[in-house]
Amino acid sequence: MKDQSLSSIDHTRVQRSFARGLQSYHENASVQRQIAEELVAILAAQGVPKTLGRVLEFGCGTGHLTSALLDQFDIDALTLNDLVSEAEQPLQALLQQRGQAASFCFGAIEELVLPQQLDLIASASTVQWIADLPATLSRLSDALRPGGWLALSGFGRHQFHQLVELGSQAAAPNYLDAGEWPLILPAGLELVAMRQQTIDLQFASAIDLLRHLRRTGVNGQASRGWGRRDLEQFERRYRQRFACADQLPLTYDAVWILARKPG
Ligand SMILES: C[S@@+](CC[C@H](N)C(=O)[O-])C[C@H]1O[C@@H](n2cnc3c(N)ncnc32)[C@H](O)[C@@H]1O
Repeated sequence: MKDQSLSSIDHTRVQRSFARGLQSYHENASVQRQIAEELVAILAAQGVPKTLGRVLEFGCGTGHLTSALLDQFDIDALTLNDLVSEAEQPLQALLQQRGQAASFCFGAIEELVLPQQLDLIASASTVQWIADLPATLSRLSDALRPGGWLALSGFGRHQFHQLVELGSQAAAPNYLDAGEWPLILPAGLELVAMRQQTIDLQFASAIDLLRHLRRTGVNGQASRGWGRRDLEQFERRYRQRFACADQLPLTYDAVWILARKPG
């Protein structure tokens, strides 16, 4: 169900990129898995109760966060969202394994009519794709019950800084450092915890690095239309600037935010 009055961002490119990469995403997105697990560890450390009534996860992809949430919590009513409906198949398999029921709603979270009176809204590695984050956060806050939790992970301004320094245009639209989150949280939410940490992956070659980006659906267009010479030039420049012990580093800049609606 869509609320047509909200902003109509063109999600087609993001959708194409993730739908194409979905199959390979699960095995290759080891950093996103780690980030999702850390988000749940933060929820547990802050004393979020083991049993939760109504939970919404958006941008669930192939279920890295879904899986970590189900390891930690017993959830009565789970709603799963992603921009791409191709996510339903891997998610159904995951839910079946866990004996967990869930309802699905596909489409951009900014445009969905949200379930209400939620105990928890959670999302990992997705908010960087939302253009008007303050408006979306305000809608999410309205959908929480008093005492409900909002747990998010995104990426900071150092995300893929090597690619940015080499002139890549294919970054996600909304990288925010942890310190910027308090400025955009709606008045109705209290910040409970936040963290930021870089995670470096190492690649033997530029081809391996670009393959990783394509397989995780991130910067899927980055090397589109490149010939052999473009690739050689990219590798040469990347090595000159960033190589360490003959490896090419790629920096993820993870940010975790936990907020609560006062009870
Ligand atoms: C990097 S993946 C993260 C998937 C999963 N949460 C994880 O931690 O592995 C980002 C996901 O967000 C979805 N996505 C992007 N923009 C979205 C939007 N506006 N609303 C809902 N989902 C969105 C993509 O389709 C993709 O599956």
